[in-house]
Amino acid sequence: MKNSIQMIISATQIRKRIIELGQQITSNYKNSQQNMVLVGLLKGSFIFIADLCRCINIEHEIDFMTISSYGNNTVTNMNVKILKDLNQDVCGKNVLIIEDIIDSGNTWFKVREIIKSKKPHSLAICTLLNKTKSRDISIHIDYTGFYISNDFVVGYGIDYAQYYRSLPYIAKVIF
Ligand code: IMP
Ligand code: MG
Repeated sequence: MKNSIQMIISATQIRKRIIELGQQITSNYKNSQQNMVLVGLLKGSFIFIADLCRCINIEHEIDFMTISSYGNNTVTNMNVKILKDLNQDVCGKNVLIIEDIIDSGNTWFKVREIIKSKKPHSLAICTLLNKTKSRDISIHIDYTGFYISNDFVVGYGIDYAQYYRSLPYIAKVIF
């Protein structure tokens, strides 16, 4: 990759924030009678879900979904496709979607519809990053790690054309 990058959120900041998110999620779900399932949206959430699940002090299952994304472009599109569906039944369970980053909100909007049709007991989303921008669609995001500006970012699982996922911090790409 020829682009240069600039760190915007350090590994230490990420670690600290994930502990807080884990505590918040634990306290919100600890009295529920229903089983909990964390659903990671691949591939971008694979590192986040691995760290976050170890900070949630409630028994839970883990599952993954793969949704088609940008391809190798940096512009979102309205066509969200399921490439890999859930392996298990989430009917009657507390489903918490784990996402790397919310940009237009389109992916979450579509995933919410898909999961709702599976009749979970509850459905919420936790995203590591949330771009603060005006969105065409109105969406509610339950848990946000960090609000960021409208830059294209990479690292901690998040890629640019499949590169940079293994960076331990979040960086913006300088185009
Ligand atoms: P949305 O559907 O526009 O909200 O986009 C969500 C998905 O687009 C995320 O799950 C990411 O996979 C990808 N994405 C959005 N912004 C970025 C970015 O800044 N860097 C890398 N991927 C991004
Ligand atoms: Mg994603």
